[in-house]
Amino acid sequence: MRQVLVLNGPNLARLGSREPDIYGTASFDDLSRACLQAGDQLGLAVEIRQTDDEAELLGWVHEAADQRLPIVLNPAAFTHYSYALRDALAMRTAPLVEVHLSNPAARETFRHTSVVAGVADGTIAGFGTASYELALRAIAGLIGGAEPSGGPGAAGRSPHEG
Ligand code: DQA
Repeated sequence: MRQVLVLNGPNLARLGSREPDIYGTASFDDLSRACLQAGDQLGLAVEIRQTDDEAELLGWVHEAADQRLPIVLNPAAFTHYSYALRDALAMRTAPLVEVHLSNPAARETFRHTSVVAGVADGTIAGFGTASYELALRAIAGLIGGAEPSGGPGAAGRSPHEG
């Protein structure tokens, strides 16, 4: 099973109580469970981490680059100003999908800029927890992983079936 890191930046551990009108009522644990479930369905071994510390996040991005691990990343506020994070991500050696629970483009002007978007394969924003599920699906497609169970590429298909 291919390993995928789901990395989360500052304040995301507070989901559930953090501005629920914007970020919803699902807690970080709920989000983690949804990611693990999506990973199971996609044939991906998902590992979820969260930090409020930029240096720790950079360390995880370096680790992913060294181990060729795909990343689903919600950089949270770092999205908008961390050139250090962007530079670390530019060294990536596997797919990267940027995610947001909210739709930053529909919010304050400072959220309209992502310094990360230019080094990602793509960005999924505005769908709450489903943003992460869609991002994992995108990663599965990018690495050629199995389709969701029952799908056309479901595991167990004979290599001769085209
Ligand atoms: C966020 C959007 C960012 O603008 C904000 O700083 C966050 C969360 C999101 O998931 O919607 O912390 O990344």
